[in-house]
Amino acid sequence: MEPILNVQNLTMRFGGLKALDNVNITIEKGQIAALIGPNGAGKTTFFNCITGIYDPCRGHVEIKVPGESAMRIKGLKPNQVTERGMARTFQNIRLFQGMTVLENVMIGRHCRLHAGILGALLRPAGQVKEEKQAVFDSYEILEKIGLEQYVNEMAVNLPYGAQRRLEIARALATNPFILLLDEPAAGMNPQETRELDELILWLRDSEDLTILLIEHDMKLVMSLSDRIHVVDYGKKIAEGTPAQIKANPDVIKAYLGDDSEHA
Ligand SMILES: Nc1ncnc2c1ncn2[C@@H]1O[C@H](COP(=O)(O)OP(=O)(O)O)[C@@H](O)[C@H]1O
Ligand SMILES: [Mg+2]
Repeated sequence: MEPILNVQNLTMRFGGLKALDNVNITIEKGQIAALIGPNGAGKTTFFNCITGIYDPCRGHVEIKVPGESAMRIKGLKPNQVTERGMARTFQNIRLFQGMTVLENVMIGRHCRLHAGILGALLRPAGQVKEEKQAVFDSYEILEKIGLEQYVNEMAVNLPYGAQRRLEIARALATNPFILLLDEPAAGMNPQETRELDELILWLRDSEDLTILLIEHDMKLVMSLSDRIHVVDYGKKIAEGTPAQIKANPDVIKAYLGDDSEHA
């Protein structure tokens, strides 16, 4: 099967530190894949490099919608990556706290609208219609994610778990085919984590998404993932099914190397 995301030899340096060292990861359509590893292993840097936030020193990054030819995305800007169908959430929640829940989702939707700033100011008929459609679509996404009761609430007032879900809703509004989640369960209580587990499965099965998640909650990772990729000190050290990863001596060593730091 052809990969939907193909990353080869990804290398990223910060001064003297090699945060990523020749990392190869491929993700197939419909997979729930996880990227795990100790703190500082390079997981977030991997997301930043493949979504245009950092320009990696070296490597090849390609995404491919089934039935279309592959698109090189290395060197593109973050908004261009989003427009090509790869959306993400952030380890540290990045919502517009002073905006409503609906407005936060509409910002995600904006990358699919044709009206620019001038259009929004002049508001010709076609663009008013487009804006109305964006409100409708955004509300529909909130309903799907189970946040519609908060539609006019300020993002800052939402419970923590709901803020994390809102980040996912905003990413969905960009209409992606692949979704990257950076520690979506961080800070969630057990009930919120269970609901997240269901939400991620639903995104894959009902929304036809391919998902790559970075996550420290091993119970969640093991129950959700079809495939797990492990990095340590910027290097990929293992790849396999949850059962294979649990039994891999290199992975066990990486995690037990420093108990205080590692999740
Ligand atoms: N912008 C940056 N400048 C310098 N060093 C960075 C930067 N971003 C990350 N790093 C370093 O790169 C390494 C990997 O970080 P990160 O990708 O955030 O790890 P993880 O997400 O796996 O915990 C760490 O040593 C971190 O300090
Ligand atoms: Mg991180």
